[in-house]
Amino acid sequence: MNEKKKTNTMTTGFGIPVGDDQNSLTAGERGPVLMQDVHLLDKLSHFDRERIPERVVHAKGAGAGGYFEVTEDVSKYTKAAFLSEVGKKTEVFARFSTVGGEKGSADAARDPRGFAVKFYTEEGNYDFVGNNTPVFFIRDPLKFPDFIHTQKRHPATNCKDADMFWDFLSLTPESTHQVTILFSDRGTPATYRNMNGYSSHTYKWYNEDGEYFWVQYHFKTDQGIENLTREEAEKMSATDPDHATRDLYEAIERGDYPSWTLEMQIMTPEEAEEYRFDITDITKVWPHGDFPTIKIGKLVLNRNPDNYFAEVEQAAFSPANLVPGIGISPDKMLQARVFSYHDTHIHRLGPNYNLIPVNRPKNSPENSYQRDGFMRVDGNGGSGPNYWPNSFNGPSPDPDALEPPFEVSGLAQRTPYTHPNDDFVQPGNLYRDVMDDEARTHLVGNIVSHLSGAVKRIQLRQAALFFKADPDYGTRVAEGLGLDVQKVKELAEMTKEERAKATEE
Ligand code: NDP
Ligand code: HEM
Repeated sequence: MNEKKKTNTMTTGFGIPVGDDQNSLTAGERGPVLMQDVHLLDKLSHFDRERIPERVVHAKGAGAGGYFEVTEDVSKYTKAAFLSEVGKKTEVFARFSTVGGEKGSADAARDPRGFAVKFYTEEGNYDFVGNNTPVFFIRDPLKFPDFIHTQKRHPATNCKDADMFWDFLSLTPESTHQVTILFSDRGTPATYRNMNGYSSHTYKWYNEDGEYFWVQYHFKTDQGIENLTREEAEKMSATDPDHATRDLYEAIERGDYPSWTLEMQIMTPEEAEEYRFDITDITKVWPHGDFPTIKIGKLVLNRNPDNYFAEVEQAAFSPANLVPGIGISPDKMLQARVFSYHDTHIHRLGPNYNLIPVNRPKNSPENSYQRDGFMRVDGNGGSGPNYWPNSFNGPSPDPDALEPPFEVSGLAQRTPYTHPNDDFVQPGNLYRDVMDDEARTHLVGNIVSHLSGAVKRIQLRQAALFFKADPDYGTRVAEGLGLDVQKVKELAEMTKEERAKATEE
């Protein structure tokens, strides 16, 4: 018995046995605590530093491990090794999240859901960092910090603020498509298992012959889409703010492993030239009728993390983590994202975050000349050379890993998207052709319930955007808010600038 006890003795952070963990060391029974209670000091100072910065967006989330299996030969489109043959399996770690709320916020909030998957491939880690919506609110990264501020708390009241939220969106007409999806019942998925994941952006795939293709990823839930109504979501937020986190954990515990079928839309560069929508505009989808999806693989989550902080909180996903065969498109948002994630990870987790076990490229060990830095806790490259080029057998670059050259041209200038398609065609199609009567009624009810918290001039401006997508849509929102429908119609006929002027404070 003594033997067993000894192997499980509590120690300090330095492995020294602890004799008493209930009573601080004091001068006399009631006397002041002594400086020399090093166990107490160590315990408190570690506790004092337990919190790391939460993610500036997507702070609340849940994660799980699993695998991805290829089910279709896609080698003519990409040379990515993990996609090279049917039946090939790659270990993954996935994290789902809400976007705007803090780490303790409710899982049932109306918000896009993050859908991030790290593939531990033999060519290093490939990160898919998408959302459950196929489009986004904005298409220029300069707008991202402002947009996110409007989804957070008011600078004075520290409360969520409907004026901030709708003021920005109503002055940003390209957001109408994403706003329509967000305020449909898809804005409150029943669980993380019951939603799809989309790349939203266009990415590039290139093959062994250097040919390239534009692609969009669609992870379709095998559990079926299920959503909460506004009333159900409000009740869930109040009674069980962690419902989706718990649902994912419990499903995996009982062996009911969630899975998603990966379907791709694939377009040649020639098709993109002629295409009626700009493929670098993230506020647009590629209609299925133009580019049907092709099923290529299956994602299965079958392992719960042993420790939430170690794996889920410290997980760091980045759209910059691409493997040979996969590249980015000129989408301005995506170009900015390849900077922002690595930058925030260094802030959130430190410069050696890539070596934390969940982030470590476990199937292609890191073999670089990066050295030192805070929390370098592995062998730091040992006695090997720490510079390149060298003549001591250090790792050398492999030209096969290069992306084929691609053309760029044009004047350096700041320009808006100019492709001749407007921002209201696709939300209009969604409202008219995809939604049924019940979905339209829920959409209008969800918008009216939220937009009624904003001042009237902002309501008018936003209703005009819905009117531009579809007159029935705009009219129903206006009526629900008690607005003058004729005034909304007039605002809808104005330019963006005129509408802003006509609804200034
Ligand atoms: P389709 O009729 O071929 O596809 C419509 C798709 O809409 C469905 O496949 C489903 O996507 C999705 N959908 C259904 N209900 C909702 C909802 N409440 N909110 C958002 N999406 C929903 O038409 P198109 O491809 O021509 O697209 C028409 C519109 O559908 C688009 O303007 C876009 O708003 C929306 N959509 C299109 C997608 C695409 O990639 N083409 C993807 C998702 C939405 P899924 O099968 O992915 O569940
Ligand atoms: C998280 C920036 C657009 C999906 C984050 C984080 C930042 C960020 C700083 C926190 C990362 C971390 O702390 O680990 C940006 C910027 C964008 C942008 C600057 C636009 C310019 C998008 C878009 C999508 C997306 C369009 C989806 C298509 C995600 C996801 C996460 C995330 C899923 C959470 C990843 C995780 O689970 O850890 N983003 N983002 N973001 N972003 Fe974005």
